[in-house]
Amino acid sequence: MVQRLSHEAKREQWGTKLGFVCAAMGSALGLGNIWRFPYIVGENGGGAFILVYLACIIICGLPIMLGELVIGRTAQSDAVGSFGKLAPKQIWSIGGLLGVLAGFFILSFYSVVAGWALKYLFSAVGGSLWEVDIANYGKFFGVFISEVWEPLIWQGAMMVATIIMVARGVKKGLEHWNRILIPILAILVLILAGYSMSLDGAVKGLTFLFAPDWAKLLEPEIYIIALGQAFFSLSIGMAVFITYGSYLAPNTRLPISAGAIATGDTVFAIVAGLAIFPAVFAFGLSPSAGPGLSFIVLPELFQTMPFGKIIGILFFLLLVFAALTSMASLLEVPVSFFMRVFDQGRSRTTLIVGFLIYAIGIPSSLGFGVLNDVKWGTKSIIDVMEFLTLNLALPIGGMITAFFVGWAWRDRPGSSVIGFKNQVLGVLWLWSLRIVAPITVFCVFLRSVGLI
Ligand code: PHE
Repeated sequence: MVQRLSHEAKREQWGTKLGFVCAAMGSALGLGNIWRFPYIVGENGGGAFILVYLACIIICGLPIMLGELVIGRTAQSDAVGSFGKLAPKQIWSIGGLLGVLAGFFILSFYSVVAGWALKYLFSAVGGSLWEVDIANYGKFFGVFISEVWEPLIWQGAMMVATIIMVARGVKKGLEHWNRILIPILAILVLILAGYSMSLDGAVKGLTFLFAPDWAKLLEPEIYIIALGQAFFSLSIGMAVFITYGSYLAPNTRLPISAGAIATGDTVFAIVAGLAIFPAVFAFGLSPSAGPGLSFIVLPELFQTMPFGKIIGILFFLLLVFAALTSMASLLEVPVSFFMRVFDQGRSRTTLIVGFLIYAIGIPSSLGFGVLNDVKWGTKSIIDVMEFLTLNLALPIGGMITAFFVGWAWRDRPGSSVIGFKNQVLGVLWLWSLRIVAPITVFCVFLRSVGLI
């Protein structure tokens, strides 16, 4: 109790509300928007998928994000401690614990892809990326990711940058860096989208993105993928917003911030799509290249298009910055928890947790090379990690938050205390958490584990 009090007395706080929104945006905008969203849209048929995705954001994503923020802001503690303080039964803390675990595992493989982006950025700046023969980018990528040391070094470099950012603390690290990087991300993605849409033949890309193929809506897979992507992209279901909410003053209004973060994340993903698809179609390439879209198809494109090398550098810079700001939030959730539990300082905790996560991430990287044969069915190590976190931990974490806020939290703050100006919205939010979000997530979850 004494330890807990000493930690809470000196709980860090955001300097400004804008700083908090930037940090939250930094968590949401990431590889999920720039690397994953476009290839998933490409594989799942474009416009129809985007509609399902938007529905998932509105009916599940946004309400759960707000739910997490309300928990954190009220409890003023980390992922696990917040449930512990507010809930009559300790069992709810499992929701927070799942978040801490998900943070560990997501960051362990996220950093692998972030490392690839860093390598591409350096090769683009140094010029070696442009010496590859245009037909050989697939091979170039395949050879690089199957090596033992090089990918591990780039992954380590991204982890070191993340550790430095988180070790500086909430205000001087997370807030400071996100306030600088978020505007840069916005400018970069707008330049790229503007350029891509100005190319001859760009219209085909726009049609692909915005003209839905309704038949696709009959495929159940689309719903699973869209919901998983919505959770991942918004960073919900793993207590990022509980943790970030806990650094807010207890009277901060929340709905507008949550709306701004969810809207910003969605708009950003679509603009990233506008940066990629018009160019892909303009050069007659395939939109359904899968995870290699950013690392194989795009470099090919950059090498052929006018100003391509500069555009390529800007693109990989965007990818690296976006990844870094998300990685910081993935690390912050476990760091914040372990600081309290072990009553240790921030720097030391960040260093130890960061190092452990890096170690856990090593097999994910090696899974593309020496550990290629380690498979679960047809899934590689990174696929298994992705499945366990995106399809299991995040939806379950989100459902726990929805149930807790909707049904179990006896002293839940009233909607005006949460900051709703319009009471109807407050009621809609509550019923979404009570019924709509849990049922949707549950059905999709059953389907994704093969039970329906
Ligand atoms: N939202 C991040 C992205 O889109 C990933 C992330 C997931 C970050 C969960 C934190 C928590 O890349």
